[in-house]
Amino acid sequence: MSEKDPFESGKSFLVGKKEELAESKRTSIMVADRFVVIIYHQGVFYAMDQHCYHAGGSLLDGDIEEIDNKLCIVCPKHKYKISLAEGEGLYKIPNSKDKDQPCWRSKGIKQRVHKVTEVDGNVYVTLSETPGWIDSDYYQSEKGRAELKIE
Ligand code: FES
Repeated sequence: MSEKDPFESGKSFLVGKKEELAESKRTSIMVADRFVVIIYHQGVFYAMDQHCYHAGGSLLDGDIEEIDNKLCIVCPKHKYKISLAEGEGLYKIPNSKDKDQPCWRSKGIKQRVHKVTEVDGNVYVTLSETPGWIDSDYYQSEKGRAELKIE
């Protein structure tokens, strides 16, 4: 937890130096008892729950692809696509007009994403306060963690 919290809400956590996080590109970190992955891609930081909403695969090693004009992380476990900015689950349907151009549809927000802020070379994560259940919450729960054998 940040000793020097520059944010009024008091819910932002210092997670590291920009230089180091940018160099590693992916960082797994506990933020207030939540497993979070920090992603640095094309000069922008993103943060989301580390374990995929589908079956808990770690997004730490997922590739990033642009799908339907959205940057998405591709879960290494079953290749589900999750938008980096929103945590939207995307899926493909056949395009009857052009077989080579699939259509993409949204399942809605499935992965909880968190806000990343840079201040003076430091990077802070503000955990999402979006109310209600988001599917990735399961793998942050005691039951979900037990299933993944993580503590
Ligand atoms: Fe991520 Fe299945 S666990 S796609």
